[in-house]
Amino acid sequence: MGWILLIAAAIILAVVGYWQLIIAEGTYLGPRVVTLLYDWTAHRYDRLKGFDETAEDWFLGRPLATALSDRERPCVLDVATGTGRLPRTLLRQPGFDGNVVGLDLSVKMLRVASRHLAPYPSRAWLLWAAATPLPFADGQFEAVTCLEALEFFADAAPALEEMVRVLQPGGWLLITNRVGWEARMMPGRTWSRAQLLAVLRQLPLTDVSVRPWQTCYDLVWARKRRM
Ligand SMILES: C[S@@+](CC[C@H](N)C(=O)[O-])C[C@H]1O[C@@H](n2cnc3c(N)ncnc32)[C@H](O)[C@@H]1O
Repeated sequence: MGWILLIAAAIILAVVGYWQLIIAEGTYLGPRVVTLLYDWTAHRYDRLKGFDETAEDWFLGRPLATALSDRERPCVLDVATGTGRLPRTLLRQPGFDGNVVGLDLSVKMLRVASRHLAPYPSRAWLLWAAATPLPFADGQFEAVTCLEALEFFADAAPALEEMVRVLQPGGWLLITNRVGWEARMMPGRTWSRAQLLAVLRQLPLTDVSVRPWQTCYDLVWARKRRM
């Protein structure tokens, strides 16, 4: 009987551990654990993700560069930049002549990003900081992006508010919202499409569009309302 209880406890512990650390990536355990997990996996993050340059350019870099093409040397903020996925695709675009600031809490993810962004020494800046509060003045950026990260913030709504605060009127917001079975395994950390739209409606945004993107994310575009 004792052995059976011990085995049952070990199985429950393994299942809960898998859920908390692998599926939810530490989000319920706080930013320190999330950061630690990303520090541990930073060296193999790009390999695990298998980013495809053509797809990255098609869905992210090119449309963002086009959206910003009427601005002179625009400045873009990428919140939770990780290994610099968004800066990389944006800076590759011939039509983009601006700068990108990438911000993240994981030093090791930023270290990988700095290697990728070495060819753009005067156009890419990396900052070790949390998503909330953002260390920038109101209306400082022509675009703010945040990909595959909202679900790791203790409270995503204030983080979104911050992103919109530092965005110029008329500027672009590009974020992802986690959907599908993995999102359902992270209750309280993810939004349904309807919940996301309700959150976005509370913010001074217009031209909101939500499109399915990768298997477990929607890609969300919006524009900050001009006053
Ligand atoms: C799945 S990765 C996404 C990275 C990148 N945006 C991409 O699409 O590849 C999530 C990133 O969010 C960062 N992160 C998590 N919580 C954060 C917070 N509160 N502030 C800043 N960065 C955070 C992690 O360190 C990690 O680099």
